[in-house]
Amino acid sequence: MRVPGDKSMSHRALILSAMTVGETTITGLLEGEDVINTGKAMRALGASVERVGPGNWRVNGVGVAGFAEPSGPLDFGNSGTGCRLVIGAVAGCPITATFEGDASLRSRPMKRVLDPLERMGARALSVADGGRLPLTLQGARDPVPIVYEPPAASAQLKSAVLLAGLAAPGETVVIEAQATRDHTERMLRHFGADVRVENVGAHGRRVTLRGQPELTPAAVTVPTDPSSAAFPLVAGLIVPGSDIVLDGVMLNPLRTGLFATLREMGATIEELDRRAEGGEDVADLRIRFAPMRGVEVPPERAPSMIDEYLVLAVAAAFAEGTTRMRGLKELRVKESDRLAATADMLRVNGVNVEIEGDDLIVHGNGRVGGGGLVATHMDHRIAMSALVMGLASEKPVRVDDTAFIQTSFPGFIEMMRAMGGDLS
Ligand code: S3P
Repeated sequence: MRVPGDKSMSHRALILSAMTVGETTITGLLEGEDVINTGKAMRALGASVERVGPGNWRVNGVGVAGFAEPSGPLDFGNSGTGCRLVIGAVAGCPITATFEGDASLRSRPMKRVLDPLERMGARALSVADGGRLPLTLQGARDPVPIVYEPPAASAQLKSAVLLAGLAAPGETVVIEAQATRDHTERMLRHFGADVRVENVGAHGRRVTLRGQPELTPAAVTVPTDPSSAAFPLVAGLIVPGSDIVLDGVMLNPLRTGLFATLREMGATIEELDRRAEGGEDVADLRIRFAPMRGVEVPPERAPSMIDEYLVLAVAAAFAEGTTRMRGLKELRVKESDRLAATADMLRVNGVNVEIEGDDLIVHGNGRVGGGGLVATHMDHRIAMSALVMGLASEKPVRVDDTAFIQTSFPGFIEMMRAMGGDLS
């Protein structure tokens, strides 16, 4: 089986190619709603964005700081990544734009991204209560570079500042106490920007971008999304008798915390044919059912598996013993409060689960009763995790809404059926 293209890279491919001068072709683009909304935003900002075939897109960019003022609000639907990255890209342009989203996105914090961008010269003209959407941003006419230390381990914050820094003279620096996914840095280089990355301490990084480059078009191939691969992968581990191969899963080391954790739990995940695709390592992964045991997941691993805790919690429910996942504060500000929602998802299906501070603790005993109705809270990953759990639970698992799966994983339901799932 092959899962769709990586969501993080797909957003960045559209945004950065729109900031080049000339034509870029993208293959393997994720055609989920989140990414489509980013493509629409790029069009509204003056770039030409065209679909030329399944996963194949052509973008004609307007250059760094070349965005035109959009005639209406930019609606990012469910996507925090699309919204925050484009806020950064707009912050370096002398235009005013309004950012909108659905009820889930309107509940998520935006002040954290506005703070550094205001230091760079952008101005929030209006923001909804609590620093949320809708917001109107006036980009900086003469953006200034900053040295920024994000208050949370967030690739979105880092990327927003780097994208704004493209339009600033001199060096924009982001110092991360804990390294987060580095797709922006890698793709900036791919399009010709001068980006330096140095290690800081045991887990941190210092990223330095030289501003005002002329970004040049360069073909992009988007490898498959490890966060999407996580669902069929865990399905294979919890359904007795499974033996599946996932084709070309991206193995960027800042995205593979889940695979390391599952291996510690006793999972058999075999790497076949490691190779390069779109500037990243990929491999086919062969997954076979195996009994797993509970483990402790250290907090410093969180950035490399931040989107995977829901489905890890499902694996932990089928394992023997206790799994303690530490340091999950950031999960509270995702598409939903994922800490609470994951605990509820398991609890209504008979799993013994606790939240202690920012830790999630799952007491597994090798089986899940099921039979519960899971509230998905407009969150694609809760819906998919719950359905994967239903593949191996004693009674069926129901979810209240599958619509949001389209944001990141078109074809998920068909893939579940292909794996033998009985979905109705
Ligand atoms: C993403 C960063 C992460 C992640 C999200 C995608 C990105 O968010 O949860 O799904 O593409 O930069 P944070 O940066 O808020 O941790």
